[in-house]
Amino acid sequence: MDKFVITGGKKLNGKVAVSGAKNASLALMPAALLARGKSRLYNTPRLNDVFTMIKLLSQMGIESRFEDDQLELNTVDIKYYEAPYELVKKMRASIYVLGPLLSRYGYAKVSLPGGCAWGPRPINLHLMALQKMGAQIELEQGYIIAKTKRLNGAKISFDIPSVGATGNTLMAATLAKGTTVINNAACEPEITNLANFLIKMGAKIFGVGTTILEIEGVDELSPSEINTISDRIEAGTLLIAAAITKGLVELVGANEYHLYSVLSKLEESGVKVIINKDSIQVDATDAEIKSVDVSTAVFPGFPTDMQAQWIALMSLANGTANVTDTIYFDRFNHVPELVRLGANIVVNDNSARVVGVKKLIGAKVMSTDLRASASLVLAGLAAEGITEVLRVYHLDRGYQKIEEKLNSLGADIQRVQSSEY
Ligand code: EPZ
Repeated sequence: MDKFVITGGKKLNGKVAVSGAKNASLALMPAALLARGKSRLYNTPRLNDVFTMIKLLSQMGIESRFEDDQLELNTVDIKYYEAPYELVKKMRASIYVLGPLLSRYGYAKVSLPGGCAWGPRPINLHLMALQKMGAQIELEQGYIIAKTKRLNGAKISFDIPSVGATGNTLMAATLAKGTTVINNAACEPEITNLANFLIKMGAKIFGVGTTILEIEGVDELSPSEINTISDRIEAGTLLIAAAITKGLVELVGANEYHLYSVLSKLEESGVKVIINKDSIQVDATDAEIKSVDVSTAVFPGFPTDMQAQWIALMSLANGTANVTDTIYFDRFNHVPELVRLGANIVVNDNSARVVGVKKLIGAKVMSTDLRASASLVLAGLAAEGITEVLRVYHLDRGYQKIEEKLNSLGADIQRVQSSEY
């Protein structure tokens, strides 16, 4: 298991490119199952979660070719319509194969995803939607067995604008008989990227980018190609790396329309934000970071996937910040580890009270999940002395060699083989 050995105190300075969005790729890849032939996904990030999805699809008989950032998926030899527990337990997004398999092949056997580092991750909304569309769904020994002759269009209203449930239902509806309405749909940019890919495949989708999607089912879709959007969470993480080290960093390929909530909070905290044609610059060189409250929300609100990173920044701010997660009430595993670095944070229910301290002191800390480990790396960049972040395999799931990007900006991070865990 690798660990990062970080020597803190280096101001970040320079320019770095943002990779393709993990959470777009993990939806675009299963979407290829809806058509027979070769689909191509450009700007695909080389992340462990993407390789896990490739493995899952290849076990079904899907051939993949991944050159540079172009991922080609060939579905002509698909044989199995199953997602086994061994892979689903590693990556919850495997559930995204359920809708396409059921809609195109009339059958899907997918392991229930189980929980994740910060608690249960239900899929009741996914199953409710597919049942409304006529699927027979049984649960057998931890597996979802879904069957249908052909799905029917239905009017579906989600109590929660679930990203995954919206993606699964959207994909399933493209080949259903009749029209489907998804009310209270997620409108995250990754869902818009998925909808645009499906439209290029021949799907009839209206209301893209809004919270009410209308899909007129068609009989067949054709393979196509799509450019994956840039990763707004990687971008936000790198912007906070610049802020926490009082640096000056330019992100090439970041999309301002996907980041307004994060950019405005950074400005409120005293950081200068400059938006150029195809890049975003953050100048924190003489910023005294101010404490700023955040409450996470669905897009376009402040993303839950940036909550841990924001808490890291607030740990060194002047004042007290309240950070509330309204999406996942218990996504605070990073807090005890930040406290080991000297942060002053108390969590009550789904809110963290962060009293800014003058400095953090390097120590050994443990990654528990993807974004928690990102926040520990950010804190290590600013902490005095050496911070060792263990179990960085969590990071590799969602960031493409983040230590190389940060070191290219002047950080000092060594990736070291470690038997500690
Ligand atoms: C997606 O997960 C992202 N993952 C997550 O990013 C992200 O945190 C999340 O959306 C919220 O933005 C991918 O896109 C692969 P949800 P997803 O369904 O689809 C509840 C990262 O760090 N819910 O929108 O699983 C659920 O418990 C990852 O990159 C139900 O109750 O999230 C949560 O409280 C972590 N029933 C809320 O909805 C359901 O059937 C939002 O979950 C489904 C969800």
